[in-house]
Amino acid sequence: MPLNDNREVTPWEVSESLGEGDYLRIAREFGAGIIDNDLRNRLERLAGGTNPFLDQGVFFAHRDLDLVLNDVENGNGFYLYTGRGPSGKMHLGHLLPFMFTRWLQKSFDVNLIIQITDDEKYLFRDLEWKELSEVTRNNILDILSLGFDPQKTHILIDSLNGSTLYRRAVEVSRHINVTLSKAVFGFQDSDNVGKYFFTSIQSVPAFLVSSLLGRNVRCLIPHAIDQDPHFKVSRDVFPKLGYLKPSSIMSKFLPSLKGGGKMSSSDPNSGIFLDDSPQVVRKKIMKYAFSGGRDTAEEQRKYGANPDVDFSFNVYRLIEEDQAKVSRIREDYRTGAMLSGELKTMVAEKISQVLAQLKEKREETVESYEEFLFSEERLIDSFQ
Ligand code: TRP
Repeated sequence: MPLNDNREVTPWEVSESLGEGDYLRIAREFGAGIIDNDLRNRLERLAGGTNPFLDQGVFFAHRDLDLVLNDVENGNGFYLYTGRGPSGKMHLGHLLPFMFTRWLQKSFDVNLIIQITDDEKYLFRDLEWKELSEVTRNNILDILSLGFDPQKTHILIDSLNGSTLYRRAVEVSRHINVTLSKAVFGFQDSDNVGKYFFTSIQSVPAFLVSSLLGRNVRCLIPHAIDQDPHFKVSRDVFPKLGYLKPSSIMSKFLPSLKGGGKMSSSDPNSGIFLDDSPQVVRKKIMKYAFSGGRDTAEEQRKYGANPDVDFSFNVYRLIEEDQAKVSRIREDYRTGAMLSGELKTMVAEKISQVLAQLKEKREETVESYEEFLFSEERLIDSFQ
């Protein structure tokens, strides 16, 4: 549903022409900071290891990340908050940010709230509750198949956790007027009133811990850059309620297979879905994945390929644990020692291997699903 006022990025619409070159500009326009080498090194040093999402510049922008790191150093700690609007089958582009979040949780051994915004999809995508509860369950299982810490992970489903969310969202909403909502989100007079209220709901998990514990605990939100408008509003409002501004760490999108924009749930050939069979993965990669290679094998041997724009390479570098191997492949591909067909075959296999592992883990998770669901008591306990 286009917002109809020529914006490139809103939480509900991302322009198809969005390319690698646009992200820095958009982050600057939003007023976010860029993660430079010093900040990245400091984060990785405190995390006790490097991460490809940082090294490859996928998580590239932030707000007040340095304050989170200060709180790590001075022992105050922090917690993580991220989320998902459950709208359909999940693809790799949806899952990757959760892989990064899992790394953060493991590295810092911290609590994590995952908000499932079924209400958002009801309001913005005209989905019905019946269908949403089905999608919600499936999406949660997909997310949990990555292996989050059951003691420290809290899944908050908007439509089921109304009593926790509503009271607090109302507090936020008193400080947001229609003029601001229109300016920040691009809403029109014809948009339903639920949309105007929704950002208040999405802001709650960013101060929920502080509110429940009665003392301020810093919150770090990993999210794709399109969500920044929400948290920019939160940052304006929270100090008025006596809470810390949330910090954030922001990513680019995984582009569509064909390059540019982002993977989309509505176009099956734009991305790799978690339930794609190895045959389908292979076919999609071979047939559709944008290649940084040359037109002929001969030219490629001679001039080499451009790994940076190559869809398959860009996925590979994020899911391969052996980063030394990634560097070798990059070199071979760049210099023409490796051809596009060889690269694609290897990457398709690697993706299918990752998907098979997730599927296995997903089946185990069906049993333990409920343990992850939010309750106020469990959240408070996990901070004791
Ligand atoms: N609005 C997000 C979406 O449509 C879901 C979401 C809720 C979220 N809270 C979040 C995403 C916090 C990142 C961080 O997918």
